[in-house]
Amino acid sequence: MMDRSPLLDVDALSVAYGGVPVVDGVSFRLASNERLGIVGESGSGKSQTARAVLGLLATHARVEATRLSFEGRDLLGMGPRARRQLRGRRIAMVMQDPQASLNTVMRIGAQIDEVHRRHRGSSAAEARARTLEALEGLGLDDAGRVYRAYPHEVSGGMAQRAMIAMMLAPDPSLLIADEPTSALDMAVAAGVMETLREQVERRRMAMVVISHDLDLVASFCDRVLVMWRGRIVEACGADRLHEARHPYTRGLLGCIPRLGRRPRRLATIDRGTAHGD
Ligand SMILES: Nc1ncnc2c1ncn2[C@@H]1O[C@H](COP(=O)(O)OP(=O)(O)OP(=O)(O)O)[C@@H](O)[C@H]1O
Ligand SMILES: [Mg+2]
Repeated sequence: MMDRSPLLDVDALSVAYGGVPVVDGVSFRLASNERLGIVGESGSGKSQTARAVLGLLATHARVEATRLSFEGRDLLGMGPRARRQLRGRRIAMVMQDPQASLNTVMRIGAQIDEVHRRHRGSSAAEARARTLEALEGLGLDDAGRVYRAYPHEVSGGMAQRAMIAMMLAPDPSLLIADEPTSALDMAVAAGVMETLREQVERRRMAMVVISHDLDLVASFCDRVLVMWRGRIVEACGADRLHEARHPYTRGLLGCIPRLGRRPRRLATIDRGTAHGD
């Protein structure tokens, strides 16, 4: 059931560069503690949609929306400072490359401590205890070592968990994860996703997961949006994805290779018949 006022409300969002739309009339609502997946081929506008919500678009992007609000506040009418604060405190983001989001010249523990101190007014000792607890809670057995390490001294999976710990430190109400595991090998990726799932559930956060991986999104989310050429061409419950009607979505589903099945020709989309809505 959708709350009377959704956590995130996006209505007719468009993003264009030099008059060329890359997001074209996208609308969706997200209830608190709902998990939404966005899938679609490369260049379909998934990241640009997320970046519009986060306020992280290039300066020459032209953004328009009938409504773009978070926790009842109008995002487009907000100044850059308020937007930045929201990003740090209420909305967390997990991107593909954790190494790029962490400060390379600062030890991991000190970076996360700083967030605890800034947002919760923790003392140095309290911050350290909270950070170690968070790292352990994210499945890092050797939390003490990760705490003392610089980002380049830990594996990709560990760095991703460290970044998640840092993002979750202010207790945000929404987590946006854009291809959170595509830089990791499959086994590590599955572990990181499981950790994310636990955290989202425990903290009763809402989540938007962007991925190429339909299976992952279907198993992780309540609802899935399928984007194609800047538009949402299908929106359905994750459990009903197999009933999807749009030729593009069917193409995506048909392209998932499965173990134990005879290989067959990969489905391809007939662009002549695949117009939106
Ligand atoms: N700064 C920019 N200037 C011009 N065009 C841009 C800019 N940033 C993104 N685009 C274009 O916007 C379109 C949508 O990009 P977006 O990053 O949202 O795709 P995506 O669905 O996330 O793809 P991927 O799965 O590869 O990450 C692309 O065609 C991209 O080239
Ligand atoms: Mg992207």
